[in-house]
Amino acid sequence: MNFKEEYGKRVNEIEEILAGYLPPKEGYQKTIMEAMEYSLTAGGKRIRPMLMLEAFRLFGGTGTAIRPFLAAIEMIHTYSLVHDDLPAMDNDDYRRGRKTTHVVYGEDIGILAGDALLNYAFETACTAFDTEPENSLLIGRALGILARKSGIYGMIGGQVVDVSESGHQISGEMLDFIYRLKTGALIEASLMTGAVLAGASEEETACMERIAGRVGLAFQIQDDILDVTGSEDVLGKPVHSDEKNDKTTYVSWKGLEESGKEVSRLTDEAVAELKGLGRESGYLEALFRWLVYREK
Ligand code: IPE
Ligand code: IPE
Ligand code: MG
Ligand code: MG
Ligand code: MG
Repeated sequence: MNFKEEYGKRVNEIEEILAGYLPPKEGYQKTIMEAMEYSLTAGGKRIRPMLMLEAFRLFGGTGTAIRPFLAAIEMIHTYSLVHDDLPAMDNDDYRRGRKTTHVVYGEDIGILAGDALLNYAFETACTAFDTEPENSLLIGRALGILARKSGIYGMIGGQVVDVSESGHQISGEMLDFIYRLKTGALIEASLMTGAVLAGASEEETACMERIAGRVGLAFQIQDDILDVTGSEDVLGKPVHSDEKNDKTTYVSWKGLEESGKEVSRLTDEAVAELKGLGRESGYLEALFRWLVYREK
């Protein structure tokens, strides 16, 4: 398999779907819609919708209910980035190779654009009820997962501890908690909703959650590594943001080498568990591995 080619095909597919769900730009509130589009169309790896789509295909999913969910997870992720970059949080002014939303539109619109993306994500995902009413039960279940994994038991819960503990020395246990929630939760939501919408069983969905938990933790450790070893040009966001904000990270805690080993170990475990499902998962395995060696 030519991974780069396969990855490119999927990114194009996702970009096309996302473009179909962008908010209109009209009315007195036009500015917020422009700010939403500005952050959503800046690029990004589109990992979360890609994981969702692969999970959907892994369990033999067909139909179109998945499409608004692919857009929705990217909207929620993008909102988390818009807010993460705000002066009150990480205070970064560069994201996905562009000035951050609050730098271009002002802090007030930055906050509102994040709120709007979160809300619009659920508005968008709910359109699946209209297009596939016969799958209402699965759609409802997927919405519940998306809501929980974005909230106080998911991404927001992790971000809260991340910002409140900045500048403090924290335990490895708390660091794991932060990573599993702030980053892992949306990756869990991606693999789980893809599986649920395809009709996977509860056991299979729980298995996807475990796999995603490992991938998510590895993904955030690699993000910390790149914050130290990467370049702003390649990453499209500032380096040394964690040091600037006095964050305890895997790298400051265990060093670069140990952190790298942890990323490999977690990925090996995720791949092994995925293979254990006994389904055709070649691309998904390659994607997990690429996430470890990624440079952005
Ligand atoms: C960045 O996520 C925030 C983290 C959770 C580490 P990504 O690395 O997926 O960012 P984009 O979507 O490619 O910009
Ligand atoms: C953020 O972690 C995770 C989110 C939920 C947005 P980071 O603060 O390390 O993400 P980057 O490095 O700014 O992308
Ligand atoms: Mg942050
Ligand atoms: Mg940040
Ligand atoms: Mg980071």
